[in-house]
Amino acid sequence: MTYKAKDYSNLIGMDGFSETLLKNHFTLYQGYVTNTNKLMDLLASMLKEGKVGTPEYAELKRRMGFEFDGMRLHEYYFENLGGKGVLDKSGKLGKKLTEDFGSYEDWEKDFKGTGTMRGIGWTILYQDNVTGKLINQWINEHETGHLAGCIPLLVMDVFEHAFITDYGLKRADYIGAFFKNINWGVVESRLK
Ligand SMILES: [Fe+2]
Repeated sequence: MTYKAKDYSNLIGMDGFSETLLKNHFTLYQGYVTNTNKLMDLLASMLKEGKVGTPEYAELKRRMGFEFDGMRLHEYYFENLGGKGVLDKSGKLGKKLTEDFGSYEDWEKDFKGTGTMRGIGWTILYQDNVTGKLINQWINEHETGHLAGCIPLLVMDVFEHAFITDYGLKRADYIGAFFKNINWGVVESRLK
């Protein structure tokens, strides 16, 4: 099977995100899908050719986390956008955020604080699949820092390409715009 890039053009027109920024972002995402397929093909042929023990095979294997996570994280990200940014704080997720962080406000402070850390990567609100606990986590690039087996609920891209076209270096302003467009219904549906 091959992975197919999904269409997120429904997000064009979203308040606080220019069409240029979104279109460039979709193109970048499509590149991760292409490269994931390419890597999988290459690794499959190398397996058949008996090249599993080679340094080339090892380096391509290492690369898989970058390309695959680059693809999948963008899908989570685009899919948790396009909403009205309103969370029902008395709903299942709202209550769980309060339970695990003390208050919704403290959760938001922690998530936004994680998102404004220096560096390129992602901020993810995870649910621990073992205990159910909610955790905000920083991901370096696409593949470093993931919590094994945890479920990504809310995914925010903080690579510069996600905001620099519209916000320059003002990452906090971009995060504000991101929050106004969160589709909390989608986020809540990911909760176990
Ligand atoms: Fe991105």
